[in-house]
Amino acid sequence: MPTITPKHSAAPTTIFTVMSALAGQHNAINLSQGFPDFPLDERLSGLLQEAAATGWNQYSPMAGLPALRSAVAADFTKRYDVGVDADTEVTITPGATYAIYTAFTAILQAGDEVIVLEPAYDSYLPNIQMNGGRVVPVALTAPDFGVDWNKVKAAMSAKTKAIIINTPHNPTGAVWAREDWDTLAEVVRDTDCFVLSDEVYEQLIFDGKRHYSVLEHPELRERSFALYSFGKVFNNTGWKIGFCIAPPALTDAFRKIHQFAAFCVNTPAQYALAAYMSAGIPNNVGALMEGKRNFFLNLLQELPFTVHKPAGGSYFQLVGYEQISDMPDLDFAKWLTINHGVATIPISAFYHNGHDDKLIRFCFAKKEATLLAASEKLRSL
Ligand SMILES: Cc1ncc(COP(=O)(O)O)c(C=O)c1O
Repeated sequence: MPTITPKHSAAPTTIFTVMSALAGQHNAINLSQGFPDFPLDERLSGLLQEAAATGWNQYSPMAGLPALRSAVAADFTKRYDVGVDADTEVTITPGATYAIYTAFTAILQAGDEVIVLEPAYDSYLPNIQMNGGRVVPVALTAPDFGVDWNKVKAAMSAKTKAIIINTPHNPTGAVWAREDWDTLAEVVRDTDCFVLSDEVYEQLIFDGKRHYSVLEHPELRERSFALYSFGKVFNNTGWKIGFCIAPPALTDAFRKIHQFAAFCVNTPAQYALAAYMSAGIPNNVGALMEGKRNFFLNLLQELPFTVHKPAGGSYFQLVGYEQISDMPDLDFAKWLTINHGVATIPISAFYHNGHDDKLIRFCFAKKEATLLAASEKLRSL
């Protein structure tokens, strides 16, 4: 038999697959994986049908449908007051995960180091290793999960090629302040370090806070790939379409990989997104998700979990379970699924070494009926 040498050190099956499968097996309510269980706007699904029926069924241009790139550029110019060039700076991708992988592939050579702030979205580590890079983990500081900049400075070396950051943050719901960007700019100034800014939850931000994008920071923007997902904005994660905004030279390098990895993205879905965005339909996903977070926080008050800090953004609320058990978090998450019918994600899965603070993550991007049913089940705790 020919042999296969593994390209990364992550577990063969992601925790999301493991917990969703366990939820299915035990008929549990699935608050583990981050996706809405309610329908998308039917005007958007209608546009998808229309696109297929009217013949938008062949390959799109490599960088994405011009109409969609223009809609993205106009949207960012409007919401962030930053100029974005649709032709030279925006590339449509099959999801943000792919965009992150492609950005790493564009910049990394064997032996390059990448700073990853942990807990971290689980694709970062394998994506870096698959490209021959070395992960340099830096722990965020519990319970707020802010960045300890001294630790980041200490982790920088002559081999540091990139740092990947994520705000609003999965899994903690933490949100970066403007000053974090300024400090990051100081840290990477005069270095050979790129920034990958995973901003997929940019519109899911609560309590009157505001998302600061790397695109608003002229100094950082020059060295940054900003990565986004339509799925989190339009409640259609299964369409798996995202995009990368980066300066022209970085976009060139990004597209050099993209053209031979995917070449282009599902055309009818791009058409539908472009038409939907251009129609100027107001998007209230932030308020919708904040309402769900509040609803869920109220339900949690009657349950024996500890809420250290309400999520400032994203789909996710972290809780401690020290009043219930001292099991390791993975065992607790499995036990909860099997014995109390609610699936969650253990936070140790977001660390390279399985570091366990005994915290679990609930996804509240669900119908109120789903959240209510989950809380009913958890009352048996
Ligand atoms: C932090 C983060 N980045 C990227 C993604 C992936 O986005 P997409 O579904 O567009 O690949 C997710 C999805 O859960 C995420 O939480």
